[in-house]
Amino acid sequence: MEIQLWKELLDPYEQAVSELLTKFRNVKEEHEKRNLYSPIESVSGRTKTVASILEKMQRKNIPFESLEEEVEDIAGIRIICQFQEDIDTVSQMIGKRSDMEIRSRKDYLTNQKKSGYRSLHLIVWYTVETLNGPKRIQAEIQIRTMAMNFWATTEHSLQYKYKGDIPEHVREKLMRASDAIEMLDEEMSLVRSEIMDAQIDSQIETNLVKDILRCIENLYRLDNKREVVKIQNEFYRIFSTHNLEELKRFHRQLAIIAEGSRAQSVDSGKD
Ligand code: GTP
Ligand code: MG
Repeated sequence: MEIQLWKELLDPYEQAVSELLTKFRNVKEEHEKRNLYSPIESVSGRTKTVASILEKMQRKNIPFESLEEEVEDIAGIRIICQFQEDIDTVSQMIGKRSDMEIRSRKDYLTNQKKSGYRSLHLIVWYTVETLNGPKRIQAEIQIRTMAMNFWATTEHSLQYKYKGDIPEHVREKLMRASDAIEMLDEEMSLVRSEIMDAQIDSQIETNLVKDILRCIENLYRLDNKREVVKIQNEFYRIFSTHNLEELKRFHRQLAIIAEGSRAQSVDSGKD
């Protein structure tokens, strides 16, 4: 008889959660850097606690030998999207990745749970590199909208409060709330393209400002300082007008000035 080494069991899962968090956050960042709308709004993750694993094993009669096979959510990632359309985009993106393989899919969007719960769950295979070599493990990826997440979080607290036995009158209210969430997601879908445009514009502005200021700082090092101060003041003026087209024009002009200045500094051997 040997004892169950929990830390040894959980370590690769902790590593997987940490890696997956970074990877999905990078997906969001990559979109932002390229001025693209990100279907991922935020990502969180956790490793299942020993208490929770034990509870699940007892509830589902899972023996220790098949713990890692049957408890699919030891590593859990939650991806939150703004719009229900984004859930499918994220799911397809995961399907195309070479570093994870979808093992199974539970679609609680088309088949909402009796509780009113809605989400898309993907169980994926993911390989972590450990000191003992590669280890292939399962991870549960829950994908849902912010609205669905609001509902699930609240309902989860109530499950806890009532120890899983939510009274009928509360369950009815939760069911109505779930219907309202579904309607909200439908309504939000109707303004999706407008919201996406606005967010992309805001991202373009953020990236333009970063670029403009970097350019001005470079010029300041090379050029007539008084002229560059004027350029910066002009930037502040344009920025205050909140006109993205003006900002783009200014950015283009600045690029030309910077190009000229670089050419000059090369000519005069400064660079
Ligand atoms: P668990 O033993 O709870 O993990 O369920 P399962 O392995 O049978 O899989 P299922 O797809 O039913 O649930 C997986 C996870 O989805 C749960 O651990 C919860 O995080 C979430 N979930 C499923 N059903 C509900 C629900 O009715 N309400 C809430 N709030 N979350 C749910
Ligand atoms: Mg679970």
